[in-house]
Amino acid sequence: MTNIPLKTLYNGVSVPQLGLGVYKVPPEDVYQTVSSALKAGYRHIDTASYYENENGVGKAIKDSGIPREKLFITTKVWNDDHGYDRTLQAFEKSMEKLNMDYVDLYLIHWPIPEIFPETWKALEKLYKDGRVKAIGVSNFLDHHLQTLLTDAKIKPVVNQIELHPKLIQKQTVEFCRENDIAVESWSPLGRARYLDDVILEKLAKKYDKTVAQIMIRWHIQHDFIVIPKSTKAKRQAENMAVFDFELSPEDMKQIDGMDEGFRIGSHPDEIMNK
Ligand SMILES: NC(=O)c1ccc[n+]([C@@H]2O[C@H](COP(=O)([O-])OP(=O)(O)OC[C@H]3O[C@@H](n4cnc5c(N)ncnc54)[C@H](OP(=O)(O)O)[C@@H]3O)[C@@H](O)[C@H]2O)c1
Repeated sequence: MTNIPLKTLYNGVSVPQLGLGVYKVPPEDVYQTVSSALKAGYRHIDTASYYENENGVGKAIKDSGIPREKLFITTKVWNDDHGYDRTLQAFEKSMEKLNMDYVDLYLIHWPIPEIFPETWKALEKLYKDGRVKAIGVSNFLDHHLQTLLTDAKIKPVVNQIELHPKLIQKQTVEFCRENDIAVESWSPLGRARYLDDVILEKLAKKYDKTVAQIMIRWHIQHDFIVIPKSTKAKRQAENMAVFDFELSPEDMKQIDGMDEGFRIGSHPDEIMNK
């Protein structure tokens, strides 16, 4: 049985607060990666058409025998599929690859200037038609959200953004909180770049946990949804084992203090339609 808590989104849909991300998991490895995560108790998988591994994700889910309604699956519309019609077509392609008739969460992957409000209309249609349980965005800064909200009929439930101790994106997180948009952390482990950080190592020792577990627990206590990626069963289990301890408020603050505004990925204002 899984001990991952559920977080209820503003539209009433529940999402396991911790899931597995599969960015850069090659198509030939993703079946094994997702199968082992499901065996370990993960029930939430984050993929995207851009990752080119939706096929394997879908197959692993089918073969797991876990009832579809017990799982939470996210996929995303890529930058060159923006626009109303193209987005609807891209969605159908993703459904075909995943071999599913709905996803739990469909996201706009990046805020491509000018056109993302049109793309959002397609997501609203998919939601109204019952093809997706929830719709949201990714890599939106507060100003992108403000633009979206001026015209949107339905508010995003989630904003999935780069978040880790070196990038805490205070302004965007606050905007999301004020608007009841859940924040989801991508690259929550800073893509394994800070595992030897002195502060984190000290905390790992103090709590008798690994640095990865300290980082994931920090996301959980900030009430973020968190989707660490690992292809390895041992690390998948390690990354889940974060619900039997609590970081003190002082230690949370210490990690917050590591922020350097440092991005691993692109700046959302610099992303261009490819
Ligand atoms: N919306 C977006 O634009 C966007 C962008 C990037 C990512 N994402 C999503 O967020 C997910 C997570 O982000 P990410 O994959 O970039 O980075 P991440 O989860 O921060 O880090 C993944 C890296 O950490 C290693 N790792 C995992 N657990 C570990 C542990 N316990 N100890 C040591 N190393 C560990 C992994 O290696 P092994 O696999 O070898 O274990 C991998 O190299 C993605 O997979 C994707 O689903 C979304």
